[in-house]
Amino acid sequence: MSDLDLLTASLDAIADPAGTGGLIASGRATAPRISEGRAALILDVSGLTVAARTALAAEVEAQLKRLPGVTDVRIAMTSEKIARPLIAIASGKGGVGKSTVSTNIAVALKRAGFHPGLVDADIYGPSQPLLTASEGRKPEAEGQKLIALDTPLGVPLLSMGHLVAPGQAIAWRGPMAGNALSQLIDAEWGNANVLVADMPPGTGDVQLSMVQKHKPAGAVIVSTPQDLALIDATRAIDLFQKAGVPIIGVIENMAGYVCPHCGDVSDPFGSGGAEAAAKALGIDFLGRIPLDMDIRASSDAGQPVAAGDGPHARVFEAIGAKIATWLNTQGR
Ligand SMILES: Nc1ncnc2c1ncn2[C@@H]1O[C@H](COP(=O)(O)OP(=O)(O)OP(=O)(O)O)[C@@H](O)[C@H]1O
Ligand SMILES: [Mg+2]
Repeated sequence: MSDLDLLTASLDAIADPAGTGGLIASGRATAPRISEGRAALILDVSGLTVAARTALAAEVEAQLKRLPGVTDVRIAMTSEKIARPLIAIASGKGGVGKSTVSTNIAVALKRAGFHPGLVDADIYGPSQPLLTASEGRKPEAEGQKLIALDTPLGVPLLSMGHLVAPGQAIAWRGPMAGNALSQLIDAEWGNANVLVADMPPGTGDVQLSMVQKHKPAGAVIVSTPQDLALIDATRAIDLFQKAGVPIIGVIENMAGYVCPHCGDVSDPFGSGGAEAAAKALGIDFLGRIPLDMDIRASSDAGQPVAAGDGPHARVFEAIGAKIATWLNTQGR
């Protein structure tokens, strides 16, 4: 056997992590060469997570270094650019449930077969570390590039909450907040094929950076049913539409309070207002989420209701299905 035959056989003896035979048979390793003790190859890492890529490169290096006479291994990694549309979850008003909805939509999209990543675009008031049970963790970096953190929900996340000490106020002006947003979005997202961005409330600097620099594929607007919230929601819709970002639809949150004692449903904030407003604006209505203590308690415990199998999980499943359809037909 020539040195090259040995090298090729040794590469093909390594299983493709995507499960389609050896690295040569699957086409993942190409252009193997060997001369003067140096083995070289091209490794296509498309579709692999960062962890899987790193592990594969280490395995290839270790295997090839066992070949007689090989002292040096050079691996050139390539990857097709994955199409990764970004969906902004926004509202005009604070506290209407954007962060809660974002985590649950990410989980619902994962259940629908996507590989979502979560961008906590609320630079000044990040919530996602708590909602994904990943508080106190730190993302690693590859050179200047952050690597999205694996959360217990199986959805990778980047949040300012992981980069600054808890409880520390972030008092950045527009350009710095914009740079921070870019660091989170232009990061290493592995095989994520859609990013869900939890936006800060309102229509400020971060929203402007988002639409100008990162051009979301679409936006989802969250509103509570009251008139005041709806007026603010209309402002958020206007900001995205003026920037040419299509509105995927409106979600009405905290509609209908389920009494934990008697199970009766009442409407402290009214109900149906967001659906009517969406209709009047010619925008799709994606669904209605009740005001329920379970939703808050589960969220705070890092166990979003969409990951379970109760009635709220079905509500998010239906919303996730609508967003999935939108992504498959218009979002790419
Ligand atoms: N449907 C719901 N039922 C019960 N509690 C909810 C519901 N939706 C959100 N909450 C609770 O309301 C509070 C505000 O929600 P959340 O943080 O998601 O809002 P937000 O729009 O992201 O706020 P901010 O504008 O401050 O970022 C949280 O305590 C959350 O658990
Ligand atoms: Mg929030």
